[in-house]
Amino acid sequence: MDERPFQRIVLTGAAGRLASVLRAPLRELAHCLVLSDLMPPGEAPEANEIFRACDLSDHQAVGELLQGAELVVHMGGISQERGFKTILQGNLIGQFNLYDNALAHGVKRIILASSNHVTGYYRIDQPVGPQMPPRPDSLYAVSKCYGEALASFYHDRHGLESVCLRIGSCSPQPRNLRALNAWLSHADLCRLIRCAALAPQAGFAVVYGVSDNAEKWWHDDDAERIGYHPQDNSGRYRDALLDATEPPGQPYSVWQGGKMYLRDYRKPETWT
Ligand SMILES: NC(=O)c1ccc[n+]([C@@H]2O[C@H](COP(=O)([O-])OP(=O)(O)OC[C@H]3O[C@@H](n4cnc5c(N)ncnc54)[C@H](O)[C@@H]3O)[C@@H](O)[C@H]2O)c1
Repeated sequence: MDERPFQRIVLTGAAGRLASVLRAPLRELAHCLVLSDLMPPGEAPEANEIFRACDLSDHQAVGELLQGAELVVHMGGISQERGFKTILQGNLIGQFNLYDNALAHGVKRIILASSNHVTGYYRIDQPVGPQMPPRPDSLYAVSKCYGEALASFYHDRHGLESVCLRIGSCSPQPRNLRALNAWLSHADLCRLIRCAALAPQAGFAVVYGVSDNAEKWWHDDDAERIGYHPQDNSGRYRDALLDATEPPGQPYSVWQGGKMYLRDYRKPETWT
């Protein structure tokens, strides 16, 4: 295999937390890695990287960004619960602009950052997989369901491939008890993106982005299909987390989405 199988990869959300972790592995796969965000990332572009400012809610700008790209790794947009108008711009319009322009410019595959919160309203004693109906736990998660639906539609209609990653809780170390199930280590995130980029036939896939944790809520077949074999395990942090974080048995801990459950949607800021 060519050491750099892609001419051009676009990485959106390049100034964000996960994209910062992904720059190094993606640089190894592409002759040119295009970093894009509203503002430049903290770390200046390396030799085979360039930065292009782009607001995902601007259809024409996204079209210009995607010219010549074979693969898009879409980490950009609103990454937590916000009012609807904010989510509308960054995620609903942003994801449409991405798919519409990807089709127009011949992009072969999109790796779409979805979220485990798409199924956050399942209880923690229920094993869950992508074949089960979404049960989003927030407006943010609803916007991720929409992204997955776009991905499915553009694949069925036009063969544009997508690997939708229902990313768990990605951090250097698990931060709370929920992360015993939901943790995705940085090293496993990099493994996952590599598999999603290189799988010979991705088609339309939905994969939970989690490490090989001893405790598991999520099970999927597409992880195997794209060759993702995580290697880290939150289990070794268990005792330390029990000592250091919130006591078990909180009202929100019965839901897989955890603290998303605490938000009250009867407030005016739900709209803004
Ligand atoms: N971090 C996690 O553990 C986690 C878990 C589940 C899902 N995800 C998803 O993974 C992706 C990356 O997460 P992250 O933690 O790096 O998020 P982040 O908030 O750190 O980064 C997102 C980036 O998107 C950019 N952005 C926002 N609106 C934009 C717009 N209109 N146009 C262009 N850029 C815009 C922001 O400037 C930011 O740099 C997100 O889609 C998030 O929903 C992350």
